[in-house]
Amino acid sequence: MKISSFLNKIRQSAHQRNIPILSTGTEKYLRQHLPSHTIKNALEIGSAICYSSIVIAQCIDPKYGNLTTFEVSFPPYNEGIDHISSLWIHSITNYYANFNSINLQRYLYRKLDFVFIDGRKSEYHVYLQKIIPYLAQDYLIICDDVIKFKNKLKSLYNFLDQNQINYTVHQLDPDDGILVIHNDAWLLQLASIYT
Ligand SMILES: C[S@@+](CC[C@H](N)C(=O)[O-])C[C@H]1O[C@@H](n2cnc3c(N)ncnc32)[C@H](O)[C@@H]1O
Repeated sequence: MKISSFLNKIRQSAHQRNIPILSTGTEKYLRQHLPSHTIKNALEIGSAICYSSIVIAQCIDPKYGNLTTFEVSFPPYNEGIDHISSLWIHSITNYYANFNSINLQRYLYRKLDFVFIDGRKSEYHVYLQKIIPYLAQDYLIICDDVIKFKNKLKSLYNFLDQNQINYTVHQLDPDDGILVIHNDAWLLQLASIYT
């Protein structure tokens, strides 16, 4: 089966079961913007049933690109593993783990040039602080659902503003959108604090 047909099926099934996955607006943005970054080492926090993971895997470097994902809940993690295996995608390594509890160094071989943050909204600032020491010089971070759930993201916005981190918010759907941080040098300067 073609990947696009497979993804359509997953989207329909997720919709019927109220499982949150990428909006069509965010998916379109990723497909338009990620390929030009030639991403090799990607990380996703909150992969659920791996819909977004499959989209990201399609957009990273076809030869050397790899994506490490974390999902804290077992049923979606297990379903995600089924989806990845059905498509024979070898560039995704999906872990069943709470991202907050892991020693990230043990999971990463190289610095990250792309991070997709889509876990619990109130934890976004914790994820961000945890990944700072592992960012490559040339990096892109995308946080999903930052408009609809703005009230749960106060700590993230406070952290960014207090540290004068440059970011842009893109409204991609009528009620929601993403936050993008691209190569902000100040964020890398904070690595020593969060190591
Ligand atoms: C919005 S869903 C992810 C949707 C998925 N990225 C997609 O677009 O297909 C958020 C997921 O994050 C997971 N999650 C929440 N906190 C987490 C944590 N601390 N570590 C790993 N996963 C987490 C939830 O269990 C949930 O499945």
